[in-house]
Formats: sequence, structure tokens, C-alpha cells
Amino acid sequence: MSKKLRIGIIGAGNISHSHMAGYKALSDEVEVIAACDIDEKKLTEYCKQYDIPNKYTDFNEMMAKEDLDAVSVCTWNSVHKDATIAALRGGANVICEKPMAMNTEEALEMLKVSKETGKLLQIGFVRRFGNDADALKEYISAGTFGDIYYAKATYLRRSGCPGGWFGDKSRSGGGPLIDLGVHVIDLVRYLAGSPKAVSAYGATFNNLGPDRASGKKDWQVEGNDDPYTVEDFTTALIRFDNGFTVSVEASFNLNIKKDVGNIELFGTNAGCTINPDLELFTQIAGRFVNVKPCDSIALEFNGLFEREIKGFVDAVNGNAPCIAPAEDGVELMRIIDAIYESAETGRSVEIAR
Ligand SMILES: NC(=O)c1ccc[n+]([C@@H]2O[C@H](COP(=O)([O-])OP(=O)(O)OC[C@H]3O[C@@H](n4cnc5c(N)ncnc54)[C@H](O)[C@@H]3O)[C@@H](O)[C@H]2O)c1
Repeated sequence: MSKKLRIGIIGAGNISHSHMAGYKALSDEVEVIAACDIDEKKLTEYCKQYDIPNKYTDFNEMMAKEDLDAVSVCTWNSVHKDATIAALRGGANVICEKPMAMNTEEALEMLKVSKETGKLLQIGFVRRFGNDADALKEYISAGTFGDIYYAKATYLRRSGCPGGWFGDKSRSGGGPLIDLGVHVIDLVRYLAGSPKAVSAYGATFNNLGPDRASGKKDWQVEGNDDPYTVEDFTTALIRFDNGFTVSVEASFNLNIKKDVGNIELFGTNAGCTINPDLELFTQIAGRFVNVKPCDSIALEFNGLFEREIKGFVDAVNGNAPCIAPAEDGVELMRIIDAIYESAETGRSVEIAR
């Protein structure tokens, strides 16, 4: 058995626990030996909970003192670039949470350092590791859909602003588009064969703000004193170089009956929805049919992050290709920047390269 990968965590908040679950499931292959957070109290509890021997409040110091093979960057978005670059330059491979960065410029800098250092940079597009994504990939490669020319990517919450830094544009880079939309835009683009985006037209709104009618959910941040400077709803149309077109809707707050998380694909042979479970729409012998696989293919959250972290560790060890490379993180930042620019200018934005 080769030696265990030495792992560090930067940002010991909510999502880092999901990364830890992934590393714990691989205890024969990895050991988490260091963690860093600017919140010392949280960090101390975290290191105690997971028995992590070395703790730091400065990621540069952690990278200078520790010999790490891989790092999870789980900070708020405005720190992704600096933490990732410090980890890459410190000799570690990195999995950086989504969105890759605050904007395209930062993402390109991160990609450049990953290339310079020869270290892997994976982006936390966890939906690529879903059982529903696996099934759809199989149907797509079997030709079930024909040519996919249109998709809807929907992530709508009736009352779901996470609070805290998520509503503060200087730390998040934006609202539901960059936080939720990024997952579903990435997923439909991935399933459609990763075409390049050429233009986007979008609108953002902030009519309801961080409103919470029914109290705090367990993943929401305590209190609501932070500024709310992001949109509460985004709608946009994205065009790709092969003609593929995606309609996206994402909200933290919206006067809708209930939350919707869905992707719909439309191809020349078939279409589909994944909400509430995978269903295909096609024709057999001249009649329209709706086809539901006998076994459920609804996204199974249980084990999802474990699969993502396993994918990362396998890629670091050279045992498998990286499923969510930095190049795709950059592409998503180009799309998000273009949508925000279009919302501001009221015009369609060409995505230059
Ligand atoms: N993949 C997913 O489904 C998913 C879900 C939730 C969050 N996320 C992403 O994970 C990231 C973190 O989100 P979260 O919900 O865990 O937020 P969080 O607020 O719970 O945790 C962020 C942590 O980063 C720490 N931090 C901030 N600046 C730091 C610095 N300079 N050095 C070290 N630590 C620092 C904060 O103190 C905090 O503990 C975000 O990028 C978010 O978009 C991804």
C-alpha cells in the first residue's frame, strides 16, 4: 500500500464537513493532518471533532509549515483564489469549492498557477458525481436523446437565502446565480458535452431580499445582520458555440408555490426531466411515450460528497481522470460574469476569449 495522502482543509465551515465525510470514508488512503480557519473558536472545535493535529488561522503559514499532498478550499468565495494559489504554490493538489472564484479574471489566475505548478485543480461541481448525472450520461452516450439543443436549468427557493456572507457581494460575488445557478448550469453543460459559451442575456432582481417568512433552516447562517447586496432572483439565456441553448432560473427568494431544483434536456430523439425523478419523453412506433426507469434515479444526496472526494483522491493518485477540472470552473465564471453584465446593461453580452 502506498503512503497515505496528507490532506489540509482551508475554511472549516458548513461544507467542509461534507469534505471531511469524504476523507473519513477513505481513511486507508488519506489522513487529514491540518486545518485552517480565521475563526479560532470554530477551528478548535473542528480539529477536536475530527482529531486533526495541526491548526492554523493563516493558510500561508499552514502551507509553509505543513507538507501537504492535497487541500480542500472551503472558504467563502472571495478567498477561493488566494487560498487555492497558496495551496498550489505550497505543492498541494486542490479541490476548490464552487463557484471557482469571484469572476473570470480570478479563475484564470488560479488555472494559470495550476498549470505552472503542475498540480491538479478540481472544482466542487458535486452534481457531476450524482447518480442522476451518471444515468443521464449513459442515456446520452447510447444516443437516447439524439442531439441535445436546449436545456432548462432551474434552482428556485421560495425562502432560502443562506444569510451571512452569502448575501454580501464583496464576499460572495453575487446571489443565487453564482451560488445555486452555477450547479445546474454546470450540470447541463457537462451533460451536453461541455460546449463553449458564446453569449448570455439575463436579468437580476432584488425585490424580496433576504426575507425569511418561516424561520431558519439548519443550513442557514445565524442572524441576518449582514448587508444584503446581491440579487434574490436571476433569469438568463445562454448560447453555446454548437447552438446549444440554456435557460436558467435561480432564486434565494421568490413568490413561487414550492422550491424547484430541476434540469430538463431537450434533444432531437427525446427530452427529460429529473424532477421528482428521471422521466424521458420520446416516441415509440409513432406514439408519444413517457418513460420512467423502474429503479429511482432521483439525486441521492447520501454519499454524494463522498463520491466527489473519492474522484478527487483518485485523480490526485493518477488512477482516474479529473471529472471537474479547473477549465470548466473558468467557463462557468465566464458565463456568470456575462449574465451579471447583461443584467446591468440590459443587453446581450458576447463572451470574449
Ligand atoms: N458544493 C455544494 O453543494 C456547496 C454547498 C454549500 C457551500 N458550498 C461552497 O462552499 C464554500 C463555503 O460555504 P459554507 O456554506 O461552508 O460557508 P461557511 O460560512 O459555513 O464556511 C466558510 C468558512 O470559511 C472561513 N474563512 C473565511 N475566510 C477565511 C480565510 N481567509 N482563511 C481560512 N478560513 C476562512 C470562515 O470563517 C468560515 O468558517 C462556498 O464557496 C460555497 O459556495 C458548496
